[in-house]
Amino acid sequence: MPQADSTVLLREAAALHARGALAEAERLYRQLLRRQPNDPNAHNLLGVLARQRGDAAGALRHTERALAAAPEEPVFLANRGAALAEAGRLPEAVLAFRAALARRPEDPITLRNLGQALCGLGDAAAALAPLEQATALLPEAPEPRLALAHARREAGDAAGAAEAAAAALARAGAQPALAEQARFLLAALGAAPAPDRAPAAYVRDLFDQFAPRFEAELTGRLDYRTPALLAALLGRAGLPQARTLRVLDLGCGTGLSGAALAPFARRMEGLDLSPRMLAEARKRGLYHALHEADLLDWLPRQPAAFDLIAAADVLNYLGDLAPALAAIAGALVPGGIAAFSVEVGEGAPFALGEAMRYRHDPAHVGQVAQAAGLAPMARQDAVLRTEKGAPVQGALFVLRKPKGALPAR
Ligand SMILES: C[S@@+](CC[C@H](N)C(=O)[O-])C[C@H]1O[C@@H](n2cnc3c(N)ncnc32)[C@H](O)[C@@H]1O
Repeated sequence: MPQADSTVLLREAAALHARGALAEAERLYRQLLRRQPNDPNAHNLLGVLARQRGDAAGALRHTERALAAAPEEPVFLANRGAALAEAGRLPEAVLAFRAALARRPEDPITLRNLGQALCGLGDAAAALAPLEQATALLPEAPEPRLALAHARREAGDAAGAAEAAAAALARAGAQPALAEQARFLLAALGAAPAPDRAPAAYVRDLFDQFAPRFEAELTGRLDYRTPALLAALLGRAGLPQARTLRVLDLGCGTGLSGAALAPFARRMEGLDLSPRMLAEARKRGLYHALHEADLLDWLPRQPAAFDLIAAADVLNYLGDLAPALAAIAGALVPGGIAAFSVEVGEGAPFALGEAMRYRHDPAHVGQVAQAAGLAPMARQDAVLRTEKGAPVQGALFVLRKPKGALPAR
């Protein structure tokens, strides 16, 4: 293909891509690559397209090919960094972002990506400078302000975080999901009233980003033990590990909880808001079915479908537990068991902490469970995991729906 033709083809593909016509754009990129298999621009843009589709492996492959042909190109380095971040390879992503910025220092998107990767690595202090630079370069954009607000919160600067979150909210305009997230952050900082629950879009984004690193971090640095503690409490409450029950792993995440519940299950289903957490769970080959949904929407459509419903480290994304516990009760057969954890702490009946999770008063949780028709079987105070080196205090509940119970409405 003459150079002029390939330039036209690339321009056409990129225009389709920019309009969101991903399939057509991909077809043209691939057509170009059939003629010029090493074309770095086509590989770079296919890498971006793969990332948009959540195909982290494809994004890595294509960005590597682009850089093989043009190792110094800052745009390729920046997109390589974004692909690495998507795959959870944050230290390498930081190196790629820094290399891109060394060649093109005033790239606000890469500055923001660098800041977010540093935050993900737990180095919020180092994230502040690139995020502040990104907000200075794009003063009217809400996204860098929201990222800066999160970094300041993580770095312990609550007042600065609230100021940046308010600035993001003021600029959110026609982006309702971003506005809702800014409001939620303001509430977590005590600068706005706490809503009844974390916004679903916030939870989905949080865990989609976290998915590739979740298990390594939770079981390593964060010493996460809720699934094992909950399974042990179920055993002490008299549930045999006889693989006889239809189990629902509510907020199953990557399936750490499913693995702990497996000895009870004849059939196991999982449900989660985050498609990337579900993709990790699917790899376990443990679940008979996995559902992508909000538990409050999905449960009411499953009357008396399960013998055991467990939610490990999930209800702390909800403030008012009444709708969730009523929905769990409705989805249990009479005699069925509910098991879940909550984080406990100051503030009754519930409070939203700076870590953006809810804490509950265990006595109140007991009352809400009773109102939902769930009778107590076992309860345990426990350290659920650590956060910034400090224990996260929680309570575990095992409850039974009485045999004669009418299906909840
Ligand atoms: C901390 S993870 C715990 C995952 C798993 N249960 C475990 O023990 O490893 C919390 C999970 O709950 C999910 N989640 C939170 N709120 C939810 C909701 N309203 N509906 C469905 N899933 C939810 C999140 O997407 C996330 O995957």
